[in-house]
Amino acid sequence: MKIVMLNGQNHKGSTYHIGRIIADKIEGENEITEFFFPRDLNHFCAGCYMCIEDVSLCPFYSEKKKIIDAIDAADILIVTTPTYCMHMSAPLKSFFDLTFDMWMSHRPMKSMFSKKAVIVSTSAGAGVKSAMKDVEDCLFYMGVPKIIKFGMAVQAMNWDGVAADKKKVIDKKADIIAKKLCSKGKPSVGIKTRFMFNMMGMMQKKGWNSSQVETEYWKENGWLDGKKPWDV
Ligand SMILES: Cc1cc2nc3c(=O)[nH]c(=O)nc-3n(C[C@H](O)[C@H](O)[C@H](O)COP(=O)(O)O)c2cc1C
Repeated sequence: MKIVMLNGQNHKGSTYHIGRIIADKIEGENEITEFFFPRDLNHFCAGCYMCIEDVSLCPFYSEKKKIIDAIDAADILIVTTPTYCMHMSAPLKSFFDLTFDMWMSHRPMKSMFSKKAVIVSTSAGAGVKSAMKDVEDCLFYMGVPKIIKFGMAVQAMNWDGVAADKKKVIDKKADIIAKKLCSKGKPSVGIKTRFMFNMMGMMQKKGWNSSQVETEYWKENGWLDGKKPWDV
């Protein structure tokens, strides 16, 4: 399987380590590709809306493309972020800002609707829930149907500082998550995703789009004629 790790930090601390432990525990001959932000996408969205017309017009397209291509080809996404000020890290937020054209409200990628994702966040004490919710919202609107969350208040500033008993718990939980990810076949698409996709399709039909390009994209995919991105 192809696994892509999107790390919302450059350093390899507690959050990265937990994500990597999960990736390494997934059975089979897997290919793991890692991206780190800001290292691999050191930009903020310019708000130019060029991506709405044509993603290749984004000023940061060449850097973005490598990451988007890897995501497109991936079976599993592992998104890691330390909890910073109760939320996801700024570099990870910036990555999601730079890919907002891939949301269901615009031009979602078909492949997203058959992916599994894991969100990992650690904190010193509080905020993992809100940090993971930030990421979950973005993945949901990109169409990912199966999202598993693993958050922990590790009470540490780095991986070495995490207590041994906590590392045991992490290992056990990582085993459980890795097993869930190993299950063959596409994940089922839940009612919430189906509802949101249909709503967005209705908006495209009514012409409530951000650009005619979006409506053409939905038409080309057959999504305005009853086809769904999760159909085989
Ligand atoms: C800028 C910054 C903001 C932080 N904000 C919070 C926070 O809101 N809540 C919390 O419990 N810990 C907070 N922390 C602590 C980290 O979330 C915690 O140490 C985390 O485990 C670090 O993960 P890492 O080892 O992957 O870097 C913050 C740390 C930094 C550097």
